Amino acid sequence: MLADLPDDLRESGAIKVRKKLGTISGGDVLDVGTEDGDFIKVLMKTLKDYNSFTGIDISGDELEKAREEIKDVTTNFIQMNAEAMTFQENQFDTVCSSYSLHHFENIDTVLAEMYRVLKPGGYFIIQEMYSDGEQTPAQQVDRDVAHLNVKIDSLLGIPHFKSLTRQKMKDLINKVGLSDVEVFESSWSVKCLFCKDAKECQYPKRSDNIDLVLKQIDDDLDRVREHSSYNELKKEADSLKERVITEGSSAASVMYFFGRK
Ligand SMILES: C[S@@+](CC[C@H](N)C(=O)[O-])C[C@H]1O[C@@H](n2cnc3c(N)ncnc32)[C@H](O)[C@@H]1O
Repeated sequence: MLADLPDDLRESGAIKVRKKLGTISGGDVLDVGTEDGDFIKVLMKTLKDYNSFTGIDISGDELEKAREEIKDVTTNFIQMNAEAMTFQENQFDTVCSSYSLHHFENIDTVLAEMYRVLKPGGYFIIQEMYSDGEQTPAQQVDRDVAHLNVKIDSLLGIPHFKSLTRQKMKDLINKVGLSDVEVFESSWSVKCLFCKDAKECQYPKRSDNIDLVLKQIDDDLDRVREHSSYNELKKEADSLKERVITEGSSAASVMYFFGRK
């Protein structure tokens, strides 16, 4: 059942995405860069039907959480590099990836692997935030906080890249060789349709949200306290924190791609 939705969520692209997902029989679904399996939970609520879910991630840290949270017998979580999957060609009826493209060192290689393991006629689904377009000041803050996190991860040797522009994403997807590609943009994610706190997200300047983002910036900065770039990063973080206080922060807009092999 849908939560009590704020008007701009009700009018956003998320509704169209949910409708599209509701037309898809997922069959055996592969989620790439699954982390804690959050997108699998969304697909369980939105796909017309499905047979099984497999979530893969290069890091095992969050997979245990995914296994604990999604105890459904039809799910399986495996630690695996998406650039060299051990699955067979044409193994899955649906392949998807959510908020992960900007974490992949070689996006083209991962997309080609996703295509390889997808059955002919199967659905290829991407959900990813983007960096350009008409984002509100609070969304621009969210993007820039994420980009500070990218800088800090990169200094620590963790692959993480700035969020992509819409054109860059279209170029990447065009190279995959999919047919019947449909693209949706939304200022809200489809997950928000099921969130009991969605109404509060209309107010990016609410104090609990500001406190959370300020803490997130401080925690991030703490990770590089001993690094030679610390003072420079602290300056950037301090000016970001001022923007968080004046504008608040709300999740960046999202792009969805649906295509078939
Ligand atoms: C932002 S998280 C994904 C979030 C999740 N899919 C969701 O929708 O909430 C990105 C994930 O990509 C994973 N990742 C990065 N490179 C990878 C690779 N080569 N193969 C598999 N997973 C990878 C990271 O470990 C991380 O858990």
